[in-house]
Amino acid sequence: MTPDQWAAVDHYFESLFIPSDPILSAALDASAAAELPSIQVSPNQGSLLHVLARTVNARRILEIGTLGGYSTIWLARALPNDGHLISLELDPKHAAVAQQNLERAGVSSQVEIRIGRASDSLEKLYAEKPAPFDLVFIDADKQSSKEYVDWSLRMTRPGSLIIVDNVIRKGEVINAASADDRVHGIRRALDAMASEPRLVCTGVQTVGSKGYDGFALAWVK
Ligand code: SAH
Ligand code: DHB
Ligand code: MG
Repeated sequence: MTPDQWAAVDHYFESLFIPSDPILSAALDASAAAELPSIQVSPNQGSLLHVLARTVNARRILEIGTLGGYSTIWLARALPNDGHLISLELDPKHAAVAQQNLERAGVSSQVEIRIGRASDSLEKLYAEKPAPFDLVFIDADKQSSKEYVDWSLRMTRPGSLIIVDNVIRKGEVINAASADDRVHGIRRALDAMASEPRLVCTGVQTVGSKGYDGFALAWVK
């Protein structure tokens, strides 16, 4: 099995399940034109997020790490009309590209991007005593992932789903001696999730157009 085969099968599933979508394509084009890093979830990963959001009947979604809003569009499209998504982004340039992409996608009335360090935004958000989020997607600086899991536990309810991106990193996650502090950030988050009695967790390895990576899923008991 080779990365070419993973990508070919990914494209096969895209051709089956993801009809050509000018809005998602335009979001990717605008992100590339603005020279944002091309690290958004793959189309199939986006559709997985969408299916999971629908599965938990998510009405309120929290995303940490917006980039150009590609995953945001997939998640926002799973919301009912009165649903709401808050997405946290450090880089104002990323947020501006995302805002345009969300407007083009017709979901901007349901999505609020908050600019700043996620740790600051989360503290402020928590102080507002928000209604619990039904789904949290953690996809920002990997070094802070454990902290983001901790905040997620404070702002969810039994039955909520917490999803953490990039937990495999080509398999490097099992290397406790890794020189990559992102790997250690993810390992700390996974350890905390594993020892948290309120969570039921699983890991999903993904291969495809984005290489070998994956998600951790945690369901709040
Ligand atoms: N979820 C997006 C990809 C996010 S990439 C998608 O799949 O489409 C990670 C994003 O997190 C980048 O835009 C980066 O600027 C942002 N980020 C990095 N550190 C951050 C921090 N401390 N607080 C908030 N956002 C941060
Ligand atoms: C990186 C970050 C991501 O969120 C991702 O999905 C892939 C790669 C990165 O920082 O390299
Ligand atoms: Mg990611």
